[in-house]
Amino acid sequence: MAKFLADPPIGIVGIGSDAPKELLTNQDLEKMVETSDQWIVERTGIRTRHIADEKTTTSTLASRASLSALEDAGVAPEEVDLIVVGTATPDMLFPSTACLVQRDIGAKKAAAFDLAAACTGFIYGLNVAAGMIRNGTHTTALVIGAETLSKIVDFEDRATCVLFGDGAGAAVVRRVSNGRRILSTRIMSDGTLGEMLMLPGGGSLRPTTHQTVDERLHYIKMNGNNVFKSAVKSMAEIVEKGLDDAGLGADDIDLFVPHQANIRIIEATARKLHIPMDKVFVNVDRYGNTSAASIPIALDEARARGRLKEGDLVAAVAFGAGFTWGSAVIRF
Ligand code: ACO
Repeated sequence: MAKFLADPPIGIVGIGSDAPKELLTNQDLEKMVETSDQWIVERTGIRTRHIADEKTTTSTLASRASLSALEDAGVAPEEVDLIVVGTATPDMLFPSTACLVQRDIGAKKAAAFDLAAACTGFIYGLNVAAGMIRNGTHTTALVIGAETLSKIVDFEDRATCVLFGDGAGAAVVRRVSNGRRILSTRIMSDGTLGEMLMLPGGGSLRPTTHQTVDERLHYIKMNGNNVFKSAVKSMAEIVEKGLDDAGLGADDIDLFVPHQANIRIIEATARKLHIPMDKVFVNVDRYGNTSAASIPIALDEARARGRLKEGDLVAAVAFGAGFTWGSAVIRF
């Protein structure tokens, strides 16, 4: 467990996001596996997802999102001295996707690394970057959540292939003197439940061979029901703790930005926290689950649509493989 309290004040001063143009609809999926638009909408709330073409990688989307966040913040790439990318779909095992982003955006002075916390990657990244700024070693961070999940989804497995999409979101984080600030972050893990959601092949346990590929071990494997139950319980608890750290309650929140995995998970979590749905931002219908990219994309869209205004108090929460989960309470 870790928490971060706002002294000295550190805030998000810019946000940006990006997603591939091509859309995959439920009707497209009906032609690929035994499923239906009705099943997918009723069980998940998802209607379309953005899908990267062959040439588009996680770093491509991450770099575009970063440039737009930097422009939003009015910060030049040369001012960035830290790049943290939360991703489960790096371009390759090494070099890190963060180093590729550094190269592509020209952030010559930055230290750059990837962080593996699956869907919770952006919240973990915020926690780590805010801590590094607070301890004085770094001043200006790009915290990125970026994924091309379509590249690790088994399009023959109907239980998973309908859920995921591609995209990236980025935030510029630095010390602030105005009202914007990160009031608290909390992160947690439970490694005993790792087998519920994993990509078993391609690592040191099962290096890629013809056999691992024949057994389709290079694709996501998931026990959906178990993930569902753990996600609701853990997300509700960690939002309460994060609000408590900040001396606030659920009533104080202007906008709740939960990880966009499944509308039923979002609704159940909001219900547990007694947050009305008109305070909950939802775009899972148009993006599916973009894992680490989900929260920064949602923040960027919420602002573009007038749902997130200067001065608003936001509680963001995520849950993912590991299991990992975390919350952030942020004043914008
Ligand atoms: N189309 C039609 N039928 C399907 C599909 C599909 N795409 N997928 C599964 N089914 C079938 C199953 O085979 C099963 O059939 P059976 O009863 O004959 O065996 C039936 O539908 C019910 O399956 P369940 O798994 O019980 O369905 P459930 O209501 O739990 O919904 C889902 C499944 C959507 C995967 C849900 O469990 C879920 O969203 N879990 C969370 C998973 C998740 O979001 N993971 C992402 C990473 S972690 C995170 O981001 C929170």
